[in-house]
Amino acid sequence: MSTDKRTITVRAPVNIAVIKYWGKRDEKLIIPLNDSISGTLDMEQLCATTSVAISPSFKCNQMWLNGEEVDMTANERLFRCIQEVKTMVGTSQWPADHHLQIASRNNFPTAAGLASSAAGYACLMYALCRLFGVDDAERISTLARLGSGSACRSVYGGFVQWVAGNDHQSSIARQILDEEAWPSMRVLVLVVSDHRKDTSSSSGMKSSVETSDLMKKRVQDIVPQRITQMLTAIKERNFHDFAEITMRDSNQFHAICQDTYPPIRYMNDVSWSVVSLVHYFNKLYGCNKVAYTFDAGPNACLYVLEDVVPELLALITAIYGKSESKLEVQGIEYKKHPELNDSLQKYAVVNACPGALKYVISTKLGTGPQVLSTSFDANCLIEESGGIKK
Ligand code: DP6
Repeated sequence: MSTDKRTITVRAPVNIAVIKYWGKRDEKLIIPLNDSISGTLDMEQLCATTSVAISPSFKCNQMWLNGEEVDMTANERLFRCIQEVKTMVGTSQWPADHHLQIASRNNFPTAAGLASSAAGYACLMYALCRLFGVDDAERISTLARLGSGSACRSVYGGFVQWVAGNDHQSSIARQILDEEAWPSMRVLVLVVSDHRKDTSSSSGMKSSVETSDLMKKRVQDIVPQRITQMLTAIKERNFHDFAEITMRDSNQFHAICQDTYPPIRYMNDVSWSVVSLVHYFNKLYGCNKVAYTFDAGPNACLYVLEDVVPELLALITAIYGKSESKLEVQGIEYKKHPELNDSLQKYAVVNACPGALKYVISTKLGTGPQVLSTSFDANCLIEESGGIKK
């Protein structure tokens, strides 16, 4: 292979777990204590885009994140991921005098508080591997895991299971169903107005492993059963069961956060109001029509079937929309729901919380990472002569 200047630009998706990863058995290799399952979201609404270029004319390795230069040597995990690729491809493909330039950005505001490390590391490792001709998804996923655990799931589309394993080789993600297999599945991300700085997932889970008694029960007894039940629900497209397991698992994850000493609080009052509205909505229907799940922050992620979205969005707008302007919904559009029934109308009035949501992102399941270009064209975030495009 030529060792001249080369580049690649790829994009990678965000994923939202329905059975949470929380706790590592190995901090360095990022081996989790339990299996987890997630849905990969459509990149049209949420994705990371990364360009990687290698050239003998670049003076040093450099990286930019959302336009800001970052110190690559200061981030141990990032440094390690890049070293792993370097060792894997060898000096014939990556000569010692060739340097890397990396530019990455998200298509959603960092202020949205959505976990971006999963998309970011999946994107970086996919880009680096593909730049050197490595296209084995399992290998890419394993490398992405070293950057951020949940990133290993973003290498696949649809529903994905991360099998905990017990070493670097056996801790792998695999696809359960592709993005087309449950076509009516939709996702609404409710971005909550909140300026509090969260405890990072990495330090939060470390603290839970060290101090939570509930955590042991979860890892040993509860998650193994839930994984089996969730795999069945997904394979049978059983939304009712899927929703119940998803909500129970989110609740348990946050219970463990509370059982951590000192306790960690990610959900706020608005998050809890979303929990109440989902249970009210489901009770009214007599079965589960919507499922909530919350990660290490206050934003709610709702899994819901397509036919229910217009009514649900009407309810969410009635509760959280500012009186003067409606609630902004970005992404997939739906036709307007005619009118809320009396029960929902009353619920919205009693529980009105105008302005508590910043906006809603309306999306669905999507594919794994994609290559956008292999030249210094308009997609590429890096100039051919080096440096990021303004
Ligand atoms: C709550 O993957 O961000 O989103 O491996 O330390 O980088 P590190 O943690 P990270 O943790 C994600 C935790 C979670 C649940 C999940 O996505 O499964």
